[in-house]
Amino acid sequence: MRFDEFFVRDGRFAADGVSLDELAGKCPTPFYIYSASGIRAKYRLLKECFPAFDICYSLKANPSPAVCNILAASGAGAEVSSPKELATALAAGFAPGNVVYVAPAKTAVDIEQVLRAGIHAIVADAASDLRLIETAARGLRMRPRVLLRINTRETQPEAKEVMVGGPSKFGFDEERVADDVAGVRLEQARIAGVQVYSASQVLNRVWLAAHIEYVFRLARRLSRELEFRLETVDFGGGFGVPQRERDHELDLAGLAGTIAGPLAEFRSDEPDCRLVFESGRYLVAESGVFVTRVIRVKESRGRVFAICDGGINAFSRPVFMRVKHPVRLLNRLAEPATTHVDVCGPICTPLDCIAKDAHLPLPRAGDLVGLLNAGAYGCTMSLLDFMSRGRPTEFMAESGELRRA
Ligand SMILES: Cc1ncc(COP(=O)(O)O)c(C=O)c1O
Repeated sequence: MRFDEFFVRDGRFAADGVSLDELAGKCPTPFYIYSASGIRAKYRLLKECFPAFDICYSLKANPSPAVCNILAASGAGAEVSSPKELATALAAGFAPGNVVYVAPAKTAVDIEQVLRAGIHAIVADAASDLRLIETAARGLRMRPRVLLRINTRETQPEAKEVMVGGPSKFGFDEERVADDVAGVRLEQARIAGVQVYSASQVLNRVWLAAHIEYVFRLARRLSRELEFRLETVDFGGGFGVPQRERDHELDLAGLAGTIAGPLAEFRSDEPDCRLVFESGRYLVAESGVFVTRVIRVKESRGRVFAICDGGINAFSRPVFMRVKHPVRLLNRLAEPATTHVDVCGPICTPLDCIAKDAHLPLPRAGDLVGLLNAGAYGCTMSLLDFMSRGRPTEFMAESGELRRA
């Protein structure tokens, strides 16, 4: 976990040179704080390990403009899943030619809007998508690149969200794609490659290497069988981050070493094919902390509750996805953990517990509780209007300066 690297200076909480006192003075709780240098560092790490791949930032992880600006300026492309995400990406500075559109439910209106922007490629999940894309392309007199999303027959990884290897709402089933595509006449739109998004939060390097090799083989086979020129292969994302205190880092350098052979072999046959990784969580999760303030502390029948001003309304992920985020008392980082605490929010349901059994110093009213790894699927995935508590604000810290994210 990179909390100590990105958010701790001299034993105290600080976000990119902004002290906790300054944050507490300027940011009403609950809020999200992001570290610009953390996001840049993660992009650099991924790109340095995989120079042959374009890294497309998945905006669904965190579409806040400040986060998008940083990744666009770092050289990333974007993976977007709705017309609104596309607009956010373009406004943030991602070049249309570096954007891929991946969405399981596309309307004719969505498709027309997306094609008009001149993006690199749109991903089709079904024959009906191909027909809609073809109709839009004829109307616009464009020749869009289409990638076929494939629900492969790969062995599934150990992960909470797996999208290949079984029945799936995503993509063409691998064994049926040839028949499905044969039934569609394409004159304007052109099939230009494949896309396979397999799973999220994968830390298993061996599985990821096998996935990448699988997609290399699949792309070449489908290009032969369906007779299209392979212009782009999109391997999806799924690179995980240490989530529990005991989790290990994903060994990216090891992964790069393992796929070097298959990559070289692929490159010798397809020197110009564009290779894409989509990544959300890996790039931004560890650069965000959700901060909520303790309003009161209660002991009830042997359990300690810290009742805070922001809970599942502002940070739904721990309950919605059943994920245990690491927790700290940000204003008392150096103090030893002595107590098991349920960190709860202001919402009228017992479900509103964002950290169960967190091991912390005994909290006091006024303490600032930080839930770590909140930069991805945090604010954007939350029940923001529930109980009309107001939305948490997002801030970006960069070189000692603070701005709205
Ligand atoms: C198609 C697609 N691409 C990319 C991502 C980003 O995944 P991650 O945040 O695990 O990198 C997702 C997440 O659901 C996705 O559905």
